[in-house]
Amino acid sequence: SPYSPPRDEVPPDAGPGITSTLVLSVFTAVLGSLQCGYNIGVINAPQKIIEQNYNATWLARHNASIELSTLTTLWSLSVAIFSIGGMISSFLVGVISEWLGRKRAMIINNALAFLGGALMGLAKLGCSYEMMILGRFLIGAYSGLVSGLVPMYVGEISPTHLRGALGTLHQLALVIGILIAQVFGLDSLLGSPELWPLLLGLTVAPSALQLVLFPFCPESPRYLYIIRNKESKAKESLKRLTGRSDVSEALTEMKEEKRRMDMERKVSITQLFRCRIYRQPLLIAVVLQLSQQLSGINAIFYYSTSIFESAGLEQPVFATIGAGAINAAFTVVSLFLVERAGRRTLHLVGLAGMMVCAVVMTVALVYLDRVPAMSYISMVAIFGFVAFFEIGPGPIPWFIVAELFSQGPRPAAMAVAGGCNWTCNFIIGMAFQSMAVSAPRTGGHMQSNSRGVGMHPCAPTPPHNAVHAHVQCYTTVFRHA
Ligand code: GLC
Repeated sequence: SPYSPPRDEVPPDAGPGITSTLVLSVFTAVLGSLQCGYNIGVINAPQKIIEQNYNATWLARHNASIELSTLTTLWSLSVAIFSIGGMISSFLVGVISEWLGRKRAMIINNALAFLGGALMGLAKLGCSYEMMILGRFLIGAYSGLVSGLVPMYVGEISPTHLRGALGTLHQLALVIGILIAQVFGLDSLLGSPELWPLLLGLTVAPSALQLVLFPFCPESPRYLYIIRNKESKAKESLKRLTGRSDVSEALTEMKEEKRRMDMERKVSITQLFRCRIYRQPLLIAVVLQLSQQLSGINAIFYYSTSIFESAGLEQPVFATIGAGAINAAFTVVSLFLVERAGRRTLHLVGLAGMMVCAVVMTVALVYLDRVPAMSYISMVAIFGFVAFFEIGPGPIPWFIVAELFSQGPRPAAMAVAGGCNWTCNFIIGMAFQSMAVSAPRTGGHMQSNSRGVGMHPCAPTPPHNAVHAHVQCYTTVFRHA
């Protein structure tokens, strides 16, 4: 094994079943999730500045200012191509994780992050929005792999009684990544016309740290034993993860799983759909992913600064950071609740709360023209929506797949669930913009705005109409979902 630690490195228990090797391994893996979140949130705040840069590039190339509709297309593409990258790569999670192993796949995946980060970071210097768009695609592809590999690895190295809590850490790291990106995006920090390339290029930092730390983490023992049939290496990995010299109990459990898997043989994506015994868990996994993305949560994380700006807030970035902070805080709440309240309850409570917030938002909007303060109620409802999202629908769909499936069908199931997630992510990213343009009660601004986004600060905006339209089309997305 490439890491082969000296035996005396195995730490004493830091808690029930928690060893420092387990902590280090989970921490190292979720650095990938942090990076995925960073790239979800990073294009939100500096939208205007980067658009100005696109305009300058266009001007230099064509000797004319960019058409608003072209700018809209370029920006939508820059945002949404991220999820196309995620969509494509998440389907490959199964194959790659079996071929390279969980750990090595995560290590090699960093090549995509370095390439993507470099392209985005150098796009301004190269006067090229193509570099930016390609960079976003690559970092999206990186994120798609992360969203399958990290929950899979964390799920496989965690002791059963901690699988839920540790599984939530993927989402926690992801939301912290979103928040960090939002804070760094402040124009007093990196969201300035000079420093935005650094803001985008900074994504390589967690990759570098991950490369330093991974050699000290063991490969998943389940992968080593069940897939690769390497019993002694699996034992070694188990010993390091559990801090115990006697791992026979865990090994027996894995042997039983392997015995069942050998009977099942390898499960491909097509077999997963054909075989009756997988039908129910597959349905649960897919529906949970659909409920997560079609809630429209990413309309907020991609576009909230523009939404809040249209609401007439002077410092929209701070409202965006507010949403990010609530998002992170409630993921922590979920972390503590998940082993106590159960996945089903939390997911249902989360969805119900989101529904109530959407209703409040809609009612507030009905009265918006008469009572201007209603725009703030809508904002609070959005904050509540985010909070309830993180109680259940945010974290649970990601780790439940590893829980629902045994070793044989797990990679294929991860690929299908991840693919559904990223596809819906893409649909919402694109649909939000067109719905913003066609929302019925938009006022003159929305209908006449050729940018398509319908909330661009270039166009003078009657604040309440604009926020109304945006929150309304946001609820439209929700209702249609
Ligand atoms: C979940 C979603 C992701 C979203 C995030 C928001 O991880 O999969 O798309 O951006 O939650 O916190």
